[in-house]
Amino acid sequence: MKLAVLTGGGDAPGLNAVIRGVVRKATENGDEVIGFLDGWRGVMENEFMELDVEGCRGLLTRGGTVLGTTRINPFMRDDGRDACRRTLEANGVDALIAIGGEGTLSCAHEMYKLGFPVLGVPKTIDNDIGSTEMTFGFATAVDIATEAIGRLHTTAESHDRVMVVEVMGRHVGHIATWAGLAGGASLTLIPEHPFDIAEVADALQRRHKRKFASIVVVAEGAKPVPGTLDIPEDSFDEFGHIKLGGIGELVAREITDRTGFETRTTVLGYVQRGGEPSAFDRVLATWYGVEAASMAADKAFGQMVAYQCGSMTRVDLGEAVAGLKYVNPDLYKVASTFMA
Ligand code: F6P
Repeated sequence: MKLAVLTGGGDAPGLNAVIRGVVRKATENGDEVIGFLDGWRGVMENEFMELDVEGCRGLLTRGGTVLGTTRINPFMRDDGRDACRRTLEANGVDALIAIGGEGTLSCAHEMYKLGFPVLGVPKTIDNDIGSTEMTFGFATAVDIATEAIGRLHTTAESHDRVMVVEVMGRHVGHIATWAGLAGGASLTLIPEHPFDIAEVADALQRRHKRKFASIVVVAEGAKPVPGTLDIPEDSFDEFGHIKLGGIGELVAREITDRTGFETRTTVLGYVQRGGEPSAFDRVLATWYGVEAASMAADKAFGQMVAYQCGSMTRVDLGEAVAGLKYVNPDLYKVASTFMA
């Protein structure tokens, strides 16, 4: 049997470990593996590399993806689907493993409905894919953000400042909630709970009567309660994805204006996605990869590997991409217990 893998969407620590896991298990099964370059672009344009156990040496710990990644998909080109079909036939590919987030997996689901032998592996540092409890890359991002918050505590205390830290999380606040809790944030603002800037300022003022310095963690997709604060109009990239970044700076400005406290902003940005996966993500990503190769051998097309209750399982791709996974309100309540 011949397997192919692709990595699509934004990168995440652990992508290479998934690829390595697929190759190792497929080789054990007597299967061959190729990797398409730059996500669906490589499938459409028939660009790929051979993948074998020897070529995967060192991949467990390496950040990024050796296959490259783009957000291009076959539905963006008139002949995209036919081109994919030609490539898979020409190379005798029996199963295509799409490793990606919401966009890549939705595309994989559509391709499956058109008869392509596709299955999915969920990837995103945002951890917002449905049907799976944890995507690889998330834990690493939380570690990085937590370390940054820890460092900001000491400088905040030295200068008696408010530090606003903007972390990734386009639609959901998993990174903000976990890193806020782990790092001891004073306030955490997430997309799931629109914030009232007047309440944020009041909370900080109350806190500063008894303590000094505060850390406010803001997910990049956090939004104010409608009508409470003017924010710039949303803009979108060429793939229709909302372009974010800037909410941290806005919140910091408002805090200064409303409280008089000296406030500084740190936008963590892409450091949350770059570099080596954590130990947890190395294990999780490897497990995802090995299970994906087994699913391919079983011809479990139209399905996605999912991590549930400490085990890997198989779920319907359509269900997995039907809705985002939001922060558990109980966990946010726990975080709220420590706020301000
Ligand atoms: O990987 C998800 C994510 O990190 C989002 O939190 C963020 O909005 C987005 O990727 C930005 O990625 P890019 O600039 O590559 O589109």
